[in-house]
Parts: sequence; structure tokens; C-alpha cells
Amino acid sequence: MILLHNAAQLVTPLENGEFSVIENGSIAADGERITFVGTSSEALHSYPAAERINVAGKVILPGFVDAHTHLIFGGDRCSEFLMRLRGATYQEIAAAGGGIQSTVQATREASEEKLLRDSIGHVQRMLEMGTTTVEIKSGYGLNWESERKLLSVAKALRSKTPVEIATTFLGAHDFPRGKSKDEYMEELLEVMLPAVQRERLAEFCDVFCDEGYYSIEQTRLISHRAKELGFKIKLHVDELADVNGAALASELAAISADHLILANEDGIGKMAEAGVIAVLLPGTSFALRVKQHAPARKMIQSGVRVALATDFNPGTCFSHSMQYVLQLACLLYGLTPEEALTAATLHGAAAIDRKKQIGSLEVGKQMDCLILDIPHYGYLFYNLGVNRLETVIKRGKVIWNKN
Ligand code: NIG
Ligand code: FE
Repeated sequence: MILLHNAAQLVTPLENGEFSVIENGSIAADGERITFVGTSSEALHSYPAAERINVAGKVILPGFVDAHTHLIFGGDRCSEFLMRLRGATYQEIAAAGGGIQSTVQATREASEEKLLRDSIGHVQRMLEMGTTTVEIKSGYGLNWESERKLLSVAKALRSKTPVEIATTFLGAHDFPRGKSKDEYMEELLEVMLPAVQRERLAEFCDVFCDEGYYSIEQTRLISHRAKELGFKIKLHVDELADVNGAALASELAAISADHLILANEDGIGKMAEAGVIAVLLPGTSFALRVKQHAPARKMIQSGVRVALATDFNPGTCFSHSMQYVLQLACLLYGLTPEEALTAATLHGAAAIDRKKQIGSLEVGKQMDCLILDIPHYGYLFYNLGVNRLETVIKRGKVIWNKN
């Protein structure tokens, strides 16, 4: 039994759509599960014998759910980022031999041990910024041997970190060199998807449906096959061009559509109707230096649930930090702090189908929470670029402390 008490604020979205701020807040857990959320005076009265942690003057938040990352890869693309700082675009760099293909090359060459070691480092940096659950996609293998290597590393990661991991097969991230598109489509549909399912290596299937990558028709074929096999669908859509990806995600009843920088109004309306979650990645559009950012306000006004994630990957957005993403979401999209926090926790959990277990501090859910050395949750947005996190608790256990 653990009891945190005296918090300046205990802040959490609620399943019923409200946003709760409890002054002088307290939270208790028995093992992994939350058993009490309320004020400190109620708590101390109800749980006199609990192991107490006094968090006076601090803020308690739910752990962040980073619902979209590509964190297992070989090499890095720092030099590409520097080219972008000098004015080159993502598409120009990819056409000149950089982009996804250069990471595919480096990833195929990397050993499983090296990929695992690097990934442990990335997850640890995420944890130190408050991420307690992370989704990880494959997609830098583009053949069965290497895609399987990536998903096996994701599986091995589970016993190397207390951070919870959800996995996604993104074999359709690009087309491999040396094969025709039709040949690779056939391999995806007939070999890779069934094998990933047979070996239980991923829960979700994702496709990069965008200009120069997978077409609407190819995305349909892959997603239908994946659904048949029991995968839940996620899609990278409308990042580089408006390809009507938002409408396609709705037609396919995807659990989420991600990026959506250029999504059109019709598609947004359809997402609201179909209950598709929009996973927005402000770090990516910011680092790509594009003029437009995802129309987050329009989505919220239309009734779409918006989640936020880092998109952590070597090419477009090399940031481990959900705190940075929260700040960008407010400054670039015009989200309110409450909308942004809901997006980084409860809606992130919904985007990886874990809304019943995590994403908010409510009785019965997993005790995944953060303690920040700030007097008000507004400081998370106000204090730009500074990590005020002090403690991370996952499943009722302290898994990280600043000192
Ligand atoms: O989400 N858009 C597709 N995939 C990644 C970028 C991959 C890369 O450039 O390595 C993304 O931005
Ligand atoms: Fe991505």
C-alpha cells in the first residue's frame, strides 16, 4: 500500500470527459492498482497505516503515454537534420538517397544486441521525461528477416525496462530497393503479416499512406488483410500531402490516424463519426519546418479525440520528450494545457487500446504517475524546455527518481 499525500495539485483527465484538479491532493494504490483519489485529509483518515510519501508543494500527473514512435533503428540522421536547418526539405533529402532508405541500410547491418542496447537507452531517456508507456513500430527492415529482428528487439525490451510497450508492424513504411512494388506487396500480404501474427509480434498494423509511399489502394489491401488476421489498424496519413488519408482511416475503422498535417475537413468529419483517434505529432511538423501544422483545433471542435506523441525516429523527429510535445501542442496548435494533457495521457492510451488500464488517475486503473517539482501544472507549459520531473511511478512502484 502506497499513499502520496499533500500534493499542491493532483491533476488528471477523467474517463467521463472532465478534467480534474484536486488541491492538497492524494492518491493511494494497493499493489499495481489505484484504490483512492481525493484530498489528503480524506486519505489520511482512510489509510492511516499506508506507506506515505509527502509530496508537499508538488504536482501529481498520470504517466505520459507516447502512442507513436519508431525507436528501434540503426545509425542516425543528424547530418540530414543539419541539411534541413540549411533549407533542404525532407523529400529532397530522401530523393538524394537519404531518408527512410538510409536508416533501412543501417538497421539491416546492425546486430540485435546493438539495437537492443540503443533502444534501452532511448526508452530510459523517455522515462526520464515522464513516459510510462510507449508504442514502438517496426519499419526499418523492409524484409522479413529484418522486420522480425526489430519486433524481437521490441519484445526483448519488455524485460529490460519497466516502461510498458505496445508493438506495431510497419512493414509498409516504404518499398525496399531491389524488388518491384508488386513483389513486396505480395510478400507483405502473404508472408510477413501472417508470420507477425503467428509469432504474436505485434498488436497493430500501420501503413505509411502518403505521396511517394503507399497509395490509398495499397493501404486498403494491406489493412483488410491485417484486419482479417486480427490486427488493429493504425495509419500514417496526410503528412506530406493531402491524400484523403483521414477518410480512408475512417472507412477502415482504424483505431488511430496519425500525423494528419494536411488532413481535409471532410476526412476530419468522417473521423469524428467513426471514432478514429487523431494522433498528432507536433515535434515532426516543427522539425520538418513545414508551413502548416495539423488542424488540431478544428479536430477537437469536430468531436475528434486528439492524442499527442513524439514520433521519435532518426529522420523527422529525434525527440524523446513528451514534455516538449506538450509545449509545442499548445504553442503551435493552440491547444489548452488541459486539452494537451488529456491528449498525452488518456487519449494516448485510447490510441493504443489501453484506455481501461492507463491514461488517467482513477480508482481501478494502474498506478502510473509522475511527481513534478512545480507548484501548479501550468508550469509544465510555462517553463519551456526544462525538466521538472522528480519521480516516476509505474504499476505502484517507484521506477525513477531524480536523485
Ligand atoms: O513518422 N512518416 C513516416 N515515417 C516517419 C519518418 C521516418 C523516417 O524519416 O525515418 C515519420 O515521420
Ligand atoms: Fe511516424
